[in-house]
Amino acid sequence: MNVAKRLLQITPSAPLALMQKAAQLKESGRDVISLGAGEPDFDTPIPAREAAHAAINGGKTHYTPCPGEKSLRSVIAAKLRRDNGLDYDAAEIVVSNGAKQSLYNAFMALLDPGDIAVIPSPYWVTYPEAVRLVGATPRLLPTAAARGFKPDLLELDVALRGARLFVFNSPCNPTGAVWTRAEIEALGQVLLRHDCWIVTDEIYEKLVFDGATHHSLPAVVKQLRDRTVVVNGLSKAYAMTGWRMGYAAAPRQVAEAMDLVQSHTTSNACSISQHAAQAALECDGRETGLMLDAFARRRRLVIDALKGVRGLTLVPPQGAFYVFPDVSAWLGGKFADATALCDRLLDEVGVAAVSGAAFGDPRCIRLSYATSDELLREALARVGRFLTKHAPAGAAS
Ligand SMILES: Cc1ncc(COP(=O)(O)O)c(C=O)c1O
Repeated sequence: MNVAKRLLQITPSAPLALMQKAAQLKESGRDVISLGAGEPDFDTPIPAREAAHAAINGGKTHYTPCPGEKSLRSVIAAKLRRDNGLDYDAAEIVVSNGAKQSLYNAFMALLDPGDIAVIPSPYWVTYPEAVRLVGATPRLLPTAAARGFKPDLLELDVALRGARLFVFNSPCNPTGAVWTRAEIEALGQVLLRHDCWIVTDEIYEKLVFDGATHHSLPAVVKQLRDRTVVVNGLSKAYAMTGWRMGYAAAPRQVAEAMDLVQSHTTSNACSISQHAAQAALECDGRETGLMLDAFARRRRLVIDALKGVRGLTLVPPQGAFYVFPDVSAWLGGKFADATALCDRLLDEVGVAAVSGAAFGDPRCIRLSYATSDELLREALARVGRFLTKHAPAGAAS
């Protein structure tokens, strides 16, 4: 007996697979540093933890309304107004088990089998697979490092022909690209010419550096508000990956459709996590600020270290907590591709990095700097040694 045909075209999540492999190697006694993880290494803010205890002890352990507690949705609506200049009613918000489920809800609600979803590449691993899982087809739009990994708008205009949906992600995982207000305005002019839905994933909104600012697409291009789903969550900005807290804000009809999908998949997200999320969103942001300071310092550390490696090119990321250097100078000889290079990096020097192939760019590798300064320094020294040892002809220093 075979599993469903739908799964034949689905690739497992490379970052999750790598994390598992790195954990197994560590358990077997190997000295491994993982730069594969997409999660902050900080603890969840204290107010969120205390709210979770209070929820458990106060009996908040039952089903909640499917789209989430009304009080949490009101706090999210206030957050969207305050931080993003977006105007949503609590009834236009659906709380889910992580932003990942919010994305699935949106794709299930908006894409019919055979529909096309345009996804700029490099992309977060889950977008094309989630689109495929709902029976639709991803149309990948390559972008160039030389253009800061942002699509050429003329090419986007062509790619959007006949498409039903556009996926937008700023700050971007894996490239760290952050779109300016002017760039989003220009993007909006293209999107306005096409009759398509937009899903904007803003989960890294708080993690921006070097004076970059996050702008929410429907706040900049207001005419797009009624055909946009804004996806966000608490995993990254509040170090709450394990709590599985994400949410989407969308026009009423779409929010109701996502609620319907969720009512037949998981029902509500965890009641205790919802109370923790409300407390996190209501707290003063001090802990997010401290986390951001640490990420800013580590980002500098990584950029400075990689700058010293001859042959490697890096577009300095402005957001999220990843760098996505181009290692193509090392490929084609000893290493067939970035996946082979990452395998050897792990085997030889015990550093786990994800091949760019998983994100649609097999010339690059993704390193996460969401780990302690000390481990990061050690990992970067090992990466530097490894790349120098295997230096491509002409790049040896
Ligand atoms: C771009 C992007 N969107 C969404 C998610 C999903 O986050 P979660 O489901 O933990 O809320 C991630 C996680 O890595 C991500 O990188």
